[in-house]
Amino acid sequence: MSTTKNPPVKKNMDVTLEIKGIGHSGEGVGRINGYTLFIKGALPGEKVKAKVIKVKKNFGYGKLLEIVEKSESRTEPPCDIYNQCGGCQLQHMEYAAQLEWKRQRVVDNLERIGKLEVVGKIGESGNLKILPTLGMDDPWNYRNKAQVPIGEHEGGLVGGFYAQGSHRIIDMDTCLIQHDLNNDVIREVKNIAQQLGISAYDEVTHKGMLRHVVVKIAFHTNELMVVLVTNGERIPKQEQFISQIRDKFSQVVSICQNINTKKTNVIFGDQTKTLWGKEVIYDYIGDVKFAISARSFYQVNPVQTKILYEKALEYAGLTGKETVIDAYCGIGTISLFLAQKAKKVFGVEIVKEAIEDGKINAELNGMSNVEFAVGKAEEVIPKWKEEGIETDVIVVDPPRKGCDETLLQTIIQMKPKRVVYVSCDSATLARDLRILEDGGFKTEQVQPVDMFPHTVHVECVALIELSHSHDVG
Ligand SMILES: C[S@@+](CC[C@H](N)C(=O)[O-])C[C@H]1O[C@@H](n2cnc3c(N)ncnc32)[C@H](O)[C@@H]1O
Repeated sequence: MSTTKNPPVKKNMDVTLEIKGIGHSGEGVGRINGYTLFIKGALPGEKVKAKVIKVKKNFGYGKLLEIVEKSESRTEPPCDIYNQCGGCQLQHMEYAAQLEWKRQRVVDNLERIGKLEVVGKIGESGNLKILPTLGMDDPWNYRNKAQVPIGEHEGGLVGGFYAQGSHRIIDMDTCLIQHDLNNDVIREVKNIAQQLGISAYDEVTHKGMLRHVVVKIAFHTNELMVVLVTNGERIPKQEQFISQIRDKFSQVVSICQNINTKKTNVIFGDQTKTLWGKEVIYDYIGDVKFAISARSFYQVNPVQTKILYEKALEYAGLTGKETVIDAYCGIGTISLFLAQKAKKVFGVEIVKEAIEDGKINAELNGMSNVEFAVGKAEEVIPKWKEEGIETDVIVVDPPRKGCDETLLQTIIQMKPKRVVYVSCDSATLARDLRILEDGGFKTEQVQPVDMFPHTVHVECVALIELSHSHDVG
């Protein structure tokens, strides 16, 4: 309940309140006389004392002072820099509780925004429409890509993350959600650069050489790529830099340089060159092989990606006879996964370079039943419909803002037997499911998958089927 009256709290006031939920950034959410307060570090089920630090018209923020009644789900965050970094938001919550909360968030959004009737609760028998979140056996060291800004502090090179709300770089030794080797490489590249006297980029003066170090590891082949993002073309002592990285890590098969001389927060510039070794590293998701270049997008949690895609494939219900459209296909990872079991797959994506990667990867896997198009899904798919392409299954994996309404209306007109919706935002998923339901589809099942343990992000895949009454004609 929001209030239009004056807020019942003032800045610097100490309050005691019960925490009922978790906000978008992982803060505990509680109410004082209907007025919402967000308190970082507090968990649902807790009673806390907090100091009010910011008061807005309809909500405010408090600083956690004391936990009066502790949640059973509270745990000690294992990361030393958890409170400063901001990359993870839920390390203070037991992993099992994180998974349950993520499912509940999906349930709440589908009920509240999508007006969908969710049947079955966890533990009850019967038809569970929203399944328990699929988590990781070991929810640490799951990231295959690290990209850290480099700076200077008291004469030494530092690299890690920006302190919250600023551009001051805090040095980081280890990130617990990164693959161990990524941490080792970042640490060592910093040391080598320091010893060789290579300067760090300073975004205020726009001087200095090394801006970012990016490391990618292919979990299945153990191949490593190091990308040095530099403010200029000539890296001092380049040959020594390369040979020392190679000496330390036999897994490194590719060292690239990306040149970014712009005054920008964007990490990469337009020009990339291979300094040593291969242009790409190779990895597998299931049986599908992918070439990953310095700039290409690739899912960051390969273990859970396989689980997510397997679910999408299961929901697609392919027998080998179907024509499938993969909308918002990126580099075609889902398209290729589906192509293993479909007669034909059409992928569409707005970024030209991603489609180029998709074509390379289709060829790499000897898949000739995939066709890619560059463009907006909401423009290309209606054209395919006009051209008479009929589809049995449509898979969508849109960005956070969800599907364009024109695309949803086209799907409704095309009447595929099934729609498989991969979503990274259950609020927009809920909105879009309502449109599909109103157009004659029925949401059968939703599977949340934990792609980003210890963060607030929830990914899910939904199976939507054409209702029988709309099946004919
Ligand atoms: C969540 S990603 C999905 C990527 C891919 N399915 C995967 O699993 O790697 C969403 C993709 O949609 C693309 N995109 C955004 N708006 C689009 C649009 N209107 N039409 C087509 N693609 C779009 C983005 O460039 C991005 O690659």
